[in-house]
Order: sequence, then C-alpha cells, then structure tokens
Amino acid sequence: MMDASRSEFEQDLLTALSQTNKQISPKYFYDAKGSALFDQICDLPEYYPTRTELAILKAHAADMAQHMGPHAELIELGAGSLTKVRHLLREMDAPVSFLPMDISGAHLKAAVADLSLEFPDLKLTTIVADYTKDWLLPAPAPEAKRRIAFFPGSTIGNFSPPEAQAFFANCAAHLPAGALLLGVDLLKQPGIIHQAYNDAQGVTAAFNLNLLARANKELKANFVLEQFSHWAFYNAPLHRIEMHLVSLKKQEVKLADQVFVLQEGDSLHTENSYKFTVDSIQQMALSQGLQAGPVWTDPERWFGLLWFDIPGKTHAS
Ligand code: AVI
Repeated sequence: MMDASRSEFEQDLLTALSQTNKQISPKYFYDAKGSALFDQICDLPEYYPTRTELAILKAHAADMAQHMGPHAELIELGAGSLTKVRHLLREMDAPVSFLPMDISGAHLKAAVADLSLEFPDLKLTTIVADYTKDWLLPAPAPEAKRRIAFFPGSTIGNFSPPEAQAFFANCAAHLPAGALLLGVDLLKQPGIIHQAYNDAQGVTAAFNLNLLARANKELKANFVLEQFSHWAFYNAPLHRIEMHLVSLKKQEVKLADQVFVLQEGDSLHTENSYKFTVDSIQQMALSQGLQAGPVWTDPERWFGLLWFDIPGKTHAS
C-alpha cells in the first residue's frame, strides 16, 4: 500500500528494489548535482544532441518564427538554462509572452532573471510544474494570437511509448489551435549513439550513479557507489539507449528500515532514451490528433526539430 508519509522518490525506489526487474524513473537524476552533471554532459564531445539541436536552431530560427506568426505566446516545457529558446525569441515577431515550465523553481527563476535582461519588454511567467502530470496553464493573454509549446532536447525520448502518447494528447487538449515545436534525436549509426552515453571522462557514469548518492543523502539509504557500475548500451530492436546501475557483488542495501539483497549482476534500470525516425514520431503525434508540419534537421540528419499544428479553436475565435 502507498504510504503518504513517504516521498515519491522513496516510494518509487522501494518499489524498484522489491521487484525482479528493478526500474525507476529518470526524473530522479535531477537534483542540483544531477542537473549540474547534465549541463556538463551537454558540453561533452561525444554528446552530439545538444550542439546539433543548437546548430539547427541557429540556422532555422527565422523560418520557425515565421511559422509561429506574430503575437504568439511561447511555452517551453522542461525549461532548463533557456539557451536554446533565445534563438527563437530573437526571431519572433512581437511575442506576447514566454512561459517556461520546469519542475525546479529555483533553477528556473535564475535563468529567467538572466533572460529578462535581453528581452526587457517580454512578459515572463514561470510555471513550476511537472509537465508529465499537470498542465495547469494560465489563461492566454487577450492579445495573444497563438500558443506554441517548445519541447527541445529529445526529452520525449525519456518517456515510455504510452507516456509519449499521453504527452501528445496533453498538447492536443491544452493548446487548441496552437502548435508544438519538438526536438527529437534521430536513428543513426548505433556506435555514435553508444558513445554519447559512454563518454571517456565518465560524466554520464557520474550522472547515473548520482541517483544512488541522492538516495543516500535524501532517503538515508546506504548504497556504496563503488559497488555499482554504470552500464549504458544501445538496444537496437527497441531503438533506445538503456542506462542501468549494475551491482558488482552480492550486497545488502538498507532503505527506510528495509533490507534488500542485491546479487552480483543485478541491475537497476534508470533510463531509456528512445531514438526515432521522423515518420515514427509523426505517426505517434498524428494518432493523438496533431498535424505534421515542417521538419528541420542538420546535414547528417542526426537530430530533428519537428513542427506540429494542433487543430481547434482559440479562446479568441
Ligand atoms: C534529458 N535527456 C534527453 C537526456 C538523454 O539523452 O536521454 C538525458 C541523458 N542521459 C544520459 N545522458 C543524457
């Protein structure tokens, strides 16, 4: 039975450790340390998604802004450092407001303060929410013509297929007559994908292991980090990178007064990162009522920014 006094993290980790197939949501990577490690990953030579997506944005932001039209409201989902969205805001025609949504309020406030220096006339409304759960958006500004959601970074790849479908369904329900600009990591040579999650400096390994460090800090668990190994591999039939933490020996772990025995080789599955074809992600969006629009990619087609129109009536119509 769910114990209301336990944090969601503790509850989910207890559930994971109790099962043969131990799996936990990647959302628990992102405490302050994990977010800083993720920022480091984005700068790694092996981690191509961030720089490839940025290059596409730099090259095509004007075209993307044209699709948005004048007086639009832009919502960024999972807004982190707001580096990417600046390229869109610079090209947009008289944007009415920018609404970054993130689960971490502190991170968001600092990034927004910085953004307002560059865009002093833009209305900024931060939304501290988990977009995988609630989409409590403020009412659109009366002068706004259209609402567009920007979801970069291929974070959609960290959702399970049903979660990705639910995401598109949420877009359809909450952005009538709006649009979605979605960043997706595309299928490519598996070796390139594999390297991106097995960097030479071991930053991705530290990011993965930080989940255990976080459990020790926040939940008073007693994981010995040296007794676990970062294991990431490309599962070609399922089109996804899987990240695991593998127990290097038989060991006991204590969490919330319970003791779990891990055998050598037992794994805690911490993340999936799905890769897509343009067609596969468009089909999923279409199944939830979105309409496929333009696709912008890099010359090697490693990453795509995909436009989707959302049917419906605006508040104004
Ligand atoms: C945030 N997300 C899209 C990253 C990814 O590539 O799936 C998280 C990540 N995990 C390991 N490296 C980066």
